[in-house]
Amino acid sequence: MAQPKIGTLRNGKVYRFDPVEVAAHWVHTISFFALLITGLVLFAPGGAGWLAKLLGGVNVTRLLHRVFAVPYALISLPLLVFFSPRGAKEWFREMFHWDKDDIKLMMGYFPEILGRHADLPEAPKFNAGEKFNSLLTLFTGIGLTLSGIIMWWPQSFPQWLVRLAYPVHDLAFLGMCSMLCVHIFLSVAHPKMRAALEGITTGWADAEFCKEHYGKWYKKVVTKG
Ligand code: HEM
Repeated sequence: MAQPKIGTLRNGKVYRFDPVEVAAHWVHTISFFALLITGLVLFAPGGAGWLAKLLGGVNVTRLLHRVFAVPYALISLPLLVFFSPRGAKEWFREMFHWDKDDIKLMMGYFPEILGRHADLPEAPKFNAGEKFNSLLTLFTGIGLTLSGIIMWWPQSFPQWLVRLAYPVHDLAFLGMCSMLCVHIFLSVAHPKMRAALEGITTGWADAEFCKEHYGKWYKKVVTKG
């Protein structure tokens, strides 16, 4: 069956993400979590005891961290760019394009997160919080990958660069972890944003949710299918 057009409205759901966008999101998420768990063992003094044991020891964890780094660095982004150029273009354009409505949305975000209704402007395909998360994901991803490569092959780089790679890797990891807490809270626990999880899992998201949360996008692209 032919793939629906993005924005197709069918049975109360809107087609928001194609299968490549969904796959890229989940490859990134799974490899990120695997790197986070194995990275924590390497970060903690003494190798985080029970966690290291569970993973087969610090040396096995070191190896696992390098194994998971490969899909993290080499699959999600190329998958998106080469197999869903429309999705990639849209994601890049949106994350680098901020207007005064995005700033207003960002400012009104905290009352909204806490469940109070703020009078927020309509959002495009990605709201200001998602744009911010995208920027952080992209830039910490680049930082983690470059510093990780230097830590992986330290003999191939000057000593000062190897010494710098560790704090860069740690700062990027801590920055991404704090964003991750908000991201998980919103997508899994927040009553109003939970519907977004269905969109990035099946490609189809509730139409009322889209109309309310991505009003500009909804008006521009949604058509009955
Ligand atoms: C392509 C991506 C990545 C590469 C190539 C990479 C590579 C590495 C390497 C080689 C090490 C040193 C391991 C050792 O002690 O032998 C390391 C440590 C570490 N990694 Fe990664 N990593 C990547 C992504 C990530 C991500 C996404 C996270 C977490 C979200 C992460 C968290 C950590 C932490 C916390 C450490 C310990 C750093 C320390 O000892 O101060 N890494 N990584």
